[in-house]
Amino acid sequence: MVLDIERLVDSVPEGAEALMQKVAETACLKEGVERVMAYVRIVDDEQIHVLNRETRGVDRPTDVLSYPSVNYKSGTARDNAARIRREYDPETGRSFIGDIVISIDRARAQAREYGHSLSRELGYLTAHAMLHLFGYDHMTDEDKPVMRAMEEKIMNEVGLQREDHMISDEQLVEMATEAMEKAYAPYSNYRVGACLLSEDGRTFTGCNIENASYGATICAERAAVCKAVSEGARRFTAIAVVGSGSYAWPCGVCRQVLNEFSDHMRVIAGHAGHGYEAMALSDLLPKGFGPESL
Ligand code: THU
Repeated sequence: MVLDIERLVDSVPEGAEALMQKVAETACLKEGVERVMAYVRIVDDEQIHVLNRETRGVDRPTDVLSYPSVNYKSGTARDNAARIRREYDPETGRSFIGDIVISIDRARAQAREYGHSLSRELGYLTAHAMLHLFGYDHMTDEDKPVMRAMEEKIMNEVGLQREDHMISDEQLVEMATEAMEKAYAPYSNYRVGACLLSEDGRTFTGCNIENASYGATICAERAAVCKAVSEGARRFTAIAVVGSGSYAWPCGVCRQVLNEFSDHMRVIAGHAGHGYEAMALSDLLPKGFGPESL
């Protein structure tokens, strides 16, 4: 077995470990490496937060950490067979390529955010981490697509490809741009459109609605949230917000209102006709005050 998995939490779904092994084996096959092994610990947000702070100096929880034990001179594992052989452990009969730590809390939140199962998310995080142990990275524009393409190859091979019926960021941005056309913004002339995606796959659009008494203005995001909640939707996976004059990152009040319903949703900010970018709401509003704070 490629992975030696230790669970430090008890909420790992049945079948997830077998899937993670399959992902790791497939990663080895695709990379062309044999007889390697990695040690995996499944922890909670609190434990990964401590590790992230102590080993990387980053003071927040994260989804996955990987610590390669092979020092790749250049290229990835496939170009470094001799260096991998140096890590040979006679006890396991395999070369130890490093440690992986996964937060079950973040994995669960991300699974919700993307509308797929926790097992699939654990599978994806395993693929991502294995590639780091093979020497892949995503820090530069050059490296990122290479690592992403490998992840996709592995996920497709194990039957975990993205589901086609999922609404893409591009579609959400398109719907938000359409909603922007309805904006009532005679005072600022800054038009905003939003499209909110609920967990059950429904979409709700909104536009900014200004008022002669300026403080009574409603932002596009909150218009969309009001429509959604009054139709019975309360869990959201993403929102696209498009501005007529710049990238429309939600204002502080809207971040707070979104956080009330789904603290891990994706926020896609667009500038009409100029493109869009995405971030997690938890990164736009760290340590937000939410229902669980009361
Ligand atoms: N606006 C939004 O609709 N969403 C935001 O997150 C920021 C601002 C609107 C409100 C107002 O009508 C105009 O943009 C200028 O502030």
